[in-house]
Amino acid sequence: MKKRIFSGVQPTGIPTIGNYVGAMKHFVDLQDEYDCIYCVVDQHAITVPQNPTVLKEQTRSLAALYIALGIDPKKSTLFIQSEVPAHSQAAWIALCNVGIGELERMTQYKDKSAKQETVSAGLLCYPPLMAVDIALYDTHVVPVGDDQKQHIELTRDFVNRFNSRYGQGQDLLVLPEPLIQSSGARVMSLQDPTKKMSKSDSNQKSYVLLLDEPSVIRKKIKSAVTDSSGLVYYDKENKPGVSNLLTIFSVFSGRSIQDLEQEYREAGYGKFKTDLAETIISVLEPIQERYNALLHSQELDRILDEGAKRANDIANETLKRMEKAIGLGR
Ligand code: TYM
Repeated sequence: MKKRIFSGVQPTGIPTIGNYVGAMKHFVDLQDEYDCIYCVVDQHAITVPQNPTVLKEQTRSLAALYIALGIDPKKSTLFIQSEVPAHSQAAWIALCNVGIGELERMTQYKDKSAKQETVSAGLLCYPPLMAVDIALYDTHVVPVGDDQKQHIELTRDFVNRFNSRYGQGQDLLVLPEPLIQSSGARVMSLQDPTKKMSKSDSNQKSYVLLLDEPSVIRKKIKSAVTDSSGLVYYDKENKPGVSNLLTIFSVFSGRSIQDLEQEYREAGYGKFKTDLAETIISVLEPIQERYNALLHSQELDRILDEGAKRANDIANETLKRMEKAIGLGR
């Protein structure tokens, strides 16, 4: 039997090329080797305030984008988190088996709560929900970007604790492993290469979105921060801007960084950026065409209905196993 993969993306805006390079591209590549389950995690999105109409649109949009990127519903399961109630039910169990101190130590919680006027309990309690997203599907491997590493650690701690508290010598839940790529696991902002690229950044020039038009992509790449040396080579410490662009170029073109350095070392930043923008556009254009055809189609609803059905079947079975072990119900 194939090993199981689970991963999710929040519908808090159109994904950036950072989401693609760090995670979503790999979701597609992993489909043949693993039994993959991918999720639009809309319940995670509401840990910070969202406009209801926009959230609904973005949830559908992200589902269409997953398929446009190459998630094949014949091979993989795609569903929307809130359509599988077991996630909220199991999250309560996880919350009762995780300490407040563990949650307060999460760096994403510290970052995100510092940006909010009022901090919801949901923002603090987000990692146990993520832990059960993963554990409900007997997941072996979780492909994510570098920023999710700490959440996966917490998931592993929860699984180990749950098994030792309630398993009576047996593993009730599968212990998942993170899968973090060696290159591109942390794509940086185009305007401040010491900061992670993020779709919630207030400066739109700091990211390229997967649905940006070619003219916008050209402009954003052209205005990406570099340095004054004029030479194209990888040196993360001293040339963070150029190194970030090389990483993006490498993943979008499938070429090694060394190969790109050889071609562009003395070509000038202008030529390097023009070719990078055209490479990104050549990958994104066909994705955008498929996305537009899918967005309002009944096919998308059919895929999501089938996905939710399979996800509910698997998740409910695990939830029952958890409840029985704990002693909930009659
Ligand atoms: P989210 O929606 O913030 O991001 C989705 C995926 O994109 C990766 N990513 C990046 N990778 C490289 N460079 C960047 N600048 C960059 N920005 C984002 C993220 O690491 C992630 O893999 N908590 C998760 C969603 C989630 C989840 C799950 C993931 C909920 N439940 C269960 C895995 C398994 C999140 O907020 O991702």
